[in-house]
Amino acid sequence: MGHDKLRKFAENETFSCLLQPSASELLADGFFALRDHAVKGRWNEDMFDAARPLVLELGCGKGEYTIDLSRREPSCNYIGVDIKGARLWKGAKYAHEHRLGNVAFLRTRIEFIGAFFAPDEVSQIWLTFSDPQLKSENSRLTSPVFLERYRRFLRPGGIVHLKTDSRFLYEYSLAVARCNGLRVLAATPDLYGTAPEALFGTGMGQSGTGLVQDGTGLVRGGTGPQHAESVTP
Ligand SMILES: C[S@@+](CC[C@H](N)C(=O)[O-])C[C@H]1O[C@@H](n2cnc3c(N)ncnc32)[C@H](O)[C@@H]1O
Repeated sequence: MGHDKLRKFAENETFSCLLQPSASELLADGFFALRDHAVKGRWNEDMFDAARPLVLELGCGKGEYTIDLSRREPSCNYIGVDIKGARLWKGAKYAHEHRLGNVAFLRTRIEFIGAFFAPDEVSQIWLTFSDPQLKSENSRLTSPVFLERYRRFLRPGGIVHLKTDSRFLYEYSLAVARCNGLRVLAATPDLYGTAPEALFGTGMGQSGTGLVQDGTGLVRGGTGPQHAESVTP
């Protein structure tokens, strides 16, 4: 492993805003059975400076979107989730150095997300430029198997936003929403070509995304430089 990566991993250990559970903490039998993490149901008490509605960004990479959202809408607490520690380092370092009391990061596979959040604990989810996973539907973050994971901890009326530059993922996510009776709050295949007023009231406004309600929402983008749409379960 490169020296730079090792340095970031070591620094990650010092960030109180970054949670990095080990596999042995999560896997009760060492293989398949997930054990709840101690933070489940306690995010507001344990990780933030005040209790606020929780917003997740799944597959946050370096956490730029998580940080940006926390600045735009400080009345929520934000958790960026990714499996790549060297990427999370950037967002966690920024949140640490700027003492952002409403930002945290979680290093884990999103497949394990159910171990970290209690029923009704999360208000919104953002999926930002998720891998379209062309060959593996069950790896797609908007597939039914992932939506069912989200449903277990989203509040009633919760929203899933999708922003993507993959036309495939955009169309796929809309189809999943349609087939599963989810409500699409807003969708556009051309986010930056859509008049802002057409998106107001949908949650897509400034941040340029769509969203859904009633358990889960989905938003995502269409073609062009970037797109957005949304769906609700
Ligand atoms: C294409 S990048 C997008 C990063 C960021 N959202 C952005 O817009 O720049 C996808 C990110 O999702 C993460 N990711 C994909 N599948 C994941 C999974 N199952 N569990 C955790 N992270 C995942 C990858 O590590 C990567 O950082």
